[in-house]
Amino acid sequence: SRPLVIDTDPGIDDALAILLALASPEVDLRLVTTVHGNVELEQTTENALRVLHLAGRSDVPVAAGARASLVHPQPERAGHVHGAAGLGGVQLPPSPAELDPRPAVVALAELLMASTEPVTVATIGPMTNLALLLGVYPEAAARIGRLVVMGGSAGRGGNVTAAAEFNVWADPEAAQAVLTAGLPTVLVGLDVTLHTVLGEDGIARFAAAGPVGSSAAAILQQYLDHARTAYGTSGVVVHDALALTEAIAPGTLGTVRRDVVVDTTLGAGRGQTLVDRRGVSTAPAAVEVAEAVDSAAAVEFLVSRLANLDGP
Ligand code: BDR
Ligand code: CA
Repeated sequence: SRPLVIDTDPGIDDALAILLALASPEVDLRLVTTVHGNVELEQTTENALRVLHLAGRSDVPVAAGARASLVHPQPERAGHVHGAAGLGGVQLPPSPAELDPRPAVVALAELLMASTEPVTVATIGPMTNLALLLGVYPEAAARIGRLVVMGGSAGRGGNVTAAAEFNVWADPEAAQAVLTAGLPTVLVGLDVTLHTVLGEDGIARFAAAGPVGSSAAAILQQYLDHARTAYGTSGVVVHDALALTEAIAPGTLGTVRRDVVVDTTLGAGRGQTLVDRRGVSTAPAAVEVAEAVDSAAAVEFLVSRLANLDGP
């Protein structure tokens, strides 16, 4: 199975994404790096350790990364969406595992340099760690086999501001560095994630499968409540889990190669991903932008995999 690293800010949908990776034999989760984002770094790191422990995988190393954005501080966190502690008010048992003593970029660079196989990196939080890797260890960054990014939007506007999606808005300068670096990148943005809604019936299926599934369902409750009050919907958009689906099963999403730049100005457009849709780009820095998804199949993939975490 393919080596995988998840760079994350858990986060409810991040937790689901990690569990999905652990439930998927196509990939071998070798490292989790954490970043500030939905909540503060200390909390995202603690949450990552606890989610791995929940699935019985405290052997997967967790290395803590950036606690702040590259240039401008992130204006606000997302505790109103994910709960103050990031996992929807659910207290998972603490992990017996120690945090990896290395900074995230060092752990990531060492893994990339040592791997004999191409490594997939899925980044599902602000892109600060990846931007730092590019700056400090460019030779390691160049070895990334495939970079799957949850972030931005090609034509759907934003979810934090009219222009900006959360992960890009949280660190636009980092996103600009990553999306123009010429790495083999797939951008999984709101155009596809907003179509992929996990309903209560799906949640009920993995909740019934056993303790891991029922904890995942409990974590999702806060997200469901927020979606109901904020948007009047009875399902949840699990952005990061869709990005992981593409990391696990490449080609799940329909992509088009396009040039992408990020608005790093300080005006109303800050954090917008400007996706050039005029034609198919051949520029070396172009990224594969996800534009099509079979939502029913993606939700079924997620639900059935999560149900399997508790055993067949
Ligand atoms: C992204 O923002 C975060 O709140 C989610 O975890 C996801 O990574 C969606 O815009
Ligand atoms: Ca996230």
